[in-house]
Amino acid sequence: MTYMPSENRYDKMVYRRCGRSGVKLPAISLGLWHNFGHDTPHEVKRDICRTAFDHGITHFDLANNYGPPAGSAEYAFGAILAEDFRDHRDELIISSKAGYHMWPGPYGEWGSRKYLVASCDQSLKRMGLDYVDVFYSHRFDPETPLEETMGALDYIVRSGRALYAGISSYNTARTREAVAILNDLGTPCLIHQPSYNMLNRWVERDGLKDTLQELGIGSIAFTPLAQGMLTKKYLGGIPDGSRASQGKSLFPSMLTDQALGNIRKLNEIAESRGQTLAQMAIAWVLRDGGITTALIGASKASQVIDCAGAVENLDFTADELKAIDEYADEEQINLWAASSELDNGA
Ligand SMILES: NC(=O)c1ccc[n+]([C@@H]2O[C@H](COP(=O)([O-])OP(=O)(O)OC[C@H]3O[C@@H](n4cnc5c(N)ncnc54)[C@H](OP(=O)(O)O)[C@@H]3O)[C@@H](O)[C@H]2O)c1
Repeated sequence: MTYMPSENRYDKMVYRRCGRSGVKLPAISLGLWHNFGHDTPHEVKRDICRTAFDHGITHFDLANNYGPPAGSAEYAFGAILAEDFRDHRDELIISSKAGYHMWPGPYGEWGSRKYLVASCDQSLKRMGLDYVDVFYSHRFDPETPLEETMGALDYIVRSGRALYAGISSYNTARTREAVAILNDLGTPCLIHQPSYNMLNRWVERDGLKDTLQELGIGSIAFTPLAQGMLTKKYLGGIPDGSRASQGKSLFPSMLTDQALGNIRKLNEIAESRGQTLAQMAIAWVLRDGGITTALIGASKASQVIDCAGAVENLDFTADELKAIDEYADEEQINLWAASSELDNGA
């Protein structure tokens, strides 16, 4: 049946300006890292994307390597675009990235111009797009001059393959350098994509969150639910079909007694606010305006609906924030720490 997007789709979602740019992003964005590969039925993927759009989620985030296999999430999203969103391209912000391993040999990963431009062309082909709205350097490359990586982003924008440039998991020092290079080239950095949630607060420690605000760069926090840990689902064990049951990127060893104890307490705080824990985790990431949008993932449409409900209560009292701080303890769950710690020796 032909998909007709909800006429009320823009009524409830909140849109926030992305740094000092002309673009606004929905407070909640949807990423296609998991659940968009060949191991998920197409109708489930379609349902997730349609539901997101129906709830005002206008931003869909991809990368060359999302799957499995790598590339399949972009193929799936390309099919959904053709089937359902053909008439709505101008209502969407679609992003992709390159940085991690994508094809064999010396030109299939990291930050060379050779890899980034070729990968961007491949992503456009897979999604059937003329351009993406944002193209990211997915990780800092300690062996390639930053001028080359940023020069490639500038070229990708100037050649019409992308409208804006972004960086992901760069630490504060590297971010400052990258932003200065992009500014010199005349292609300002629109957005930074770091991991951030109540159990992974490196952007606060590193100063990245403050730095992005100072520089006027937008930010999109990935894994705001700590891959599902910041929901009720693991409080009674590991449910079948959950991400932790699949051995992909959320490992049962991350569900320590300490973490589960804190999550239980955080869940009680969420309940006292009349929210689900997922909703409170999203609101918390967005709490002081320092982060533009929370980039969630979902394995079913009902999760998107639950998460979208976060916008109904984005405010916290000082007491609530204090109580959350007691339990929002750093856990060893930042799989991307190596990338933000890498240094080019400068
Ligand atoms: N730049 C980078 O290097 C990088 C790295 C990682 C991710 N990302 C981006 O960030 C996006 C989000 O990452 P993520 O999927 O790990 O985010 P997340 O939102 O922290 O976790 C998503 C998972 O949480 C569970 N979930 C979501 N909503 C729920 C709800 N309302 N109730 C109960 N469970 C819920 C689902 O787990 P189940 O599957 O168990 O149902 C879902 O798959 C990715 O798709 C990608 O676009 C970027």
